[in-house]
Amino acid sequence: SLPCDLYAAGGTPCVAAHSTTRALYSAYNGRLYQVKRASDGSTRDIGVLGAGGYADAAAQDSFCAGTSCLITVIYDQSGRGNHLTQAPPGGFSGPAEGGYDNLAEASAAPVTVGGHKAYGVFIAPGTGYRNNHTNGIATGDQPEGMYAILDGTHYNGGCCFDYGNAETSSRDTGNGHMETVYFGNIKVWGYGTGNGPWVMADLENGLFSGVNRGYNANDPSVSHRFLTAVVKGGPNHWAIRAGNAQSGGLSTYYDGPRPNVSGYHPMHKEGAIILGIGGDNSNSSAGTFYEGVMTSGYPSDATENAVQANIDAAGYAPSTLAGAPTVGSRVSLRATTACCTNDYLRHNSSDSNAAIAAISSSSSSADKAAATWIVRPGLGDASCVSFESADKPGQYLRHYDFRLRVDTLDGSALSQQDATFCPQASHNGQGISLRSANYPSDFVRHYDYGVYIAGHGGSHDWDNTTAWADDTSWVVTSPWA
Ligand code: AHR
Repeated sequence: SLPCDLYAAGGTPCVAAHSTTRALYSAYNGRLYQVKRASDGSTRDIGVLGAGGYADAAAQDSFCAGTSCLITVIYDQSGRGNHLTQAPPGGFSGPAEGGYDNLAEASAAPVTVGGHKAYGVFIAPGTGYRNNHTNGIATGDQPEGMYAILDGTHYNGGCCFDYGNAETSSRDTGNGHMETVYFGNIKVWGYGTGNGPWVMADLENGLFSGVNRGYNANDPSVSHRFLTAVVKGGPNHWAIRAGNAQSGGLSTYYDGPRPNVSGYHPMHKEGAIILGIGGDNSNSSAGTFYEGVMTSGYPSDATENAVQANIDAAGYAPSTLAGAPTVGSRVSLRATTACCTNDYLRHNSSDSNAAIAAISSSSSSADKAAATWIVRPGLGDASCVSFESADKPGQYLRHYDFRLRVDTLDGSALSQQDATFCPQASHNGQGISLRSANYPSDFVRHYDYGVYIAGHGGSHDWDNTTAWADDTSWVVTSPWA
């Protein structure tokens, strides 16, 4: 039995079931998610390999080959139509057109599940999904349960990497108007032992780690590569549970009455569903989501334990990216387009712009140093990377007006995002490609010997589709200096 079969057997059926990696009912043989490709704007539903099976990741790979794809819809498997799509603006606006949040790049979070390739939903800051018009999700003080499988190594201290029940207006309508799983290390509201990250419940105007508004000693830091995070709540009763999604059971971090501050008993749940954002569309958090469900009714611990046993058996495992830059190392980045295979990404000597230029053993030491980078944890998302100039300490490769240059960052979140690049599978099969952390369809590209972040087709010259896959593929080499 799969998770939603088990919840149904326990009398608390799924009313939303989201996964980009597998079916969550043994009879489910439908679509899991939809991707949209940059080359022609067309969409494709990605389904399962068979009833109750794993995602057909090969269908995504062939549809998105040589271009880039975004995840546009995460379908609800419950039959209630509670699909998740690009989150609209609310109390806060997102970075995309019209104040919407960004969509996730479709191949940004590769894994294997039961030996099958699959992709998770990579939430960089600014990314979010939502459904404000749901069916069957708990409202008011009605009981519900939920779990999510997350990457316990991908998180930050922004508000708020949530999955669960939120406001239908995308605005903060007061204490008790939300009930979600939260994961990350923000300490503005609640926290537990250690430095985080923690699994908490976002109940609106508060991430709760237990009965107290701030510290609760029973909520530990947890960072399993694959993390099962559980929250459930009913009238004056709620719980937080979590465990390693690769093995073992769930531990209970809290099980008791509603918080000892006003506004959370009774609850005022509104029944929208969010992923990767706060109730008011706060969108500065990061995380990775693989699957999750919401139920009608308060699931028993026994039901959740059976779900966790199925999750263990599903066989989540990391996949490694060959040729990826190692944090702390010095590297050079070689172009792979046929014109330019002796060219390396460097900063100019005459100005701070980046360019590609031939570097060889007979190049000057100044030229070699200008083409050498120190790989740092991503300043805007630590699960990606930033490139510090080897000869200009403290200056980082960043995009500005879509062109890459080296810069002393001003410390703003925007400058840090601009200097953050996420390595993923190469578009031409050589080396890797480097995705912009804040423009998920844009990749580091050389064009007419300048270097940009570029989409596969778009309004700038450098978005030209000719040779895009080659121009966005880079081999990480040993450093010139
Ligand atoms: O409860 C924490 C956050 O506070 C909510 O997600 C958001 O709506 C508000 O800013």
